[in-house]
Amino acid sequence: MIEASKSGKISSTIKYGMVGGGEGAFIGDIHRRAIGLDGKALLTAGCFSRDLANTLASGEALHLERERLYETYQEMAVEEGKRNDGIDFVSIVTPNNTHFQIAKIFLENGINVVCDKPLTTSTDEAEQLEKLAAAKDLLFCVTYTYTGYPAVKQAREMIKRGKIGDIRFVNAEYPQEWLSEPIEKNPDNKQAVWRTDPNQSGISNCVGDIGSHVENLVSYVTGLEIESLCARLDKIVEGRVLDDNATIMVNYKGGTTGIYWSSQIAAGHDNDLSIRVYGSKGSLSWRQEDPNYLKVSYLDKPSQILSRGRDSFYPRPTEICRTPAGHPEGYFEAFGTIYTTFIGALAKNKAGEELSDADLDFPTPKEGASGVKFIEKCVESSEKGAIWIKI
Ligand SMILES: NC(=O)c1ccc[n+]([C@@H]2O[C@H](COP(=O)([O-])OP(=O)(O)OC[C@H]3O[C@@H](n4cnc5c(N)ncnc54)[C@H](O)[C@@H]3O)[C@@H](O)[C@H]2O)c1
Repeated sequence: MIEASKSGKISSTIKYGMVGGGEGAFIGDIHRRAIGLDGKALLTAGCFSRDLANTLASGEALHLERERLYETYQEMAVEEGKRNDGIDFVSIVTPNNTHFQIAKIFLENGINVVCDKPLTTSTDEAEQLEKLAAAKDLLFCVTYTYTGYPAVKQAREMIKRGKIGDIRFVNAEYPQEWLSEPIEKNPDNKQAVWRTDPNQSGISNCVGDIGSHVENLVSYVTGLEIESLCARLDKIVEGRVLDDNATIMVNYKGGTTGIYWSSQIAAGHDNDLSIRVYGSKGSLSWRQEDPNYLKVSYLDKPSQILSRGRDSFYPRPTEICRTPAGHPEGYFEAFGTIYTTFIGALAKNKAGEELSDADLDFPTPKEGASGVKFIEKCVESSEKGAIWIKI
């Protein structure tokens, strides 16, 4: 799908490929639809599954040419890297344990990368990717989705401008209920199977899958850096080898503190990510299931609910709004904004233009590596009896 963007420019010159996201997968299809929202890149190649039949069926449904469908991601990286009309970037939407090898081979073949979170299953691997992308002068984006919401960017900017004063405490949580029962015992539930398997998920399930979003969202909105943490990771559903519930206290550099809770056994919660930041002059609060609104409270005046599209937002969160107030924007748009920003940066890079801070407003391997380190430190703290661990 190619359509006019807000700026009036049409860009169909950026081509992308995808690894993972074949028929039956979850997030790959969301990525494709999100990219399609602004029509700034075309899906051109794919290795959508380990199973060639799935890749071929998925590729045909997506109207790709047969010669751009690959049996392995290794072949795709090499062949696309050689072509004059090869893909500009690859989108990696496979289980966690595969991200490192896939991202590495695409970078080695000169192809820019978008990879879903958590970036890798070890900090060392994440840092290797960060270095490799820099050495090859390639752009790399990690899809921490929730940083793509206008209200989140507004909250970040308000905190930067001191609207709620000095931050005193952060309370953030991500409760879900979907793993309340041992649904991973059904092999057809692929998303549950791999997330609860340490060989595919890494050393953590709950913190890796959703606690990592909490860590990134807080870091993006507040700019705070974690100095130490104390985590208790629970394995609540019988037989589970990885965590499905986690309570984490954090100390930030500079003395502020916070608490994070992530859970997959929280009956009644779908995807209830929220962040509350308390400052010396007021507080900010945002909830992913009601993402068009930002609550702001001041000590000396009544609370306000800022409405995306209606109330005055700063320029960056304003420019990424797609619909008027009251026509809700959500998950697709947040993903779409991350992609559109990344693709815009790629297009400018290709044209040899300078990149501004706004051009680079997408999560990078640096944040990806922080996320992986956070996961490792939470597991270490919990295994040692929920002790304080320096980051
Ligand atoms: N950013 C977000 O909000 C968000 C949301 C959900 C999932 N994720 C992340 O996305 C990734 C995928 O999660 P999912 O739920 O979509 O998983 P999934 O199991 O639904 O899909 C994984 C896909 O990868 C394919 N695959 C696996 N190994 C492959 C290989 N070697 N070559 C080609 N294809 C391969 C599978 O066949 C499948 O199509 C995970 O890292 C997860 O953490 C991120």
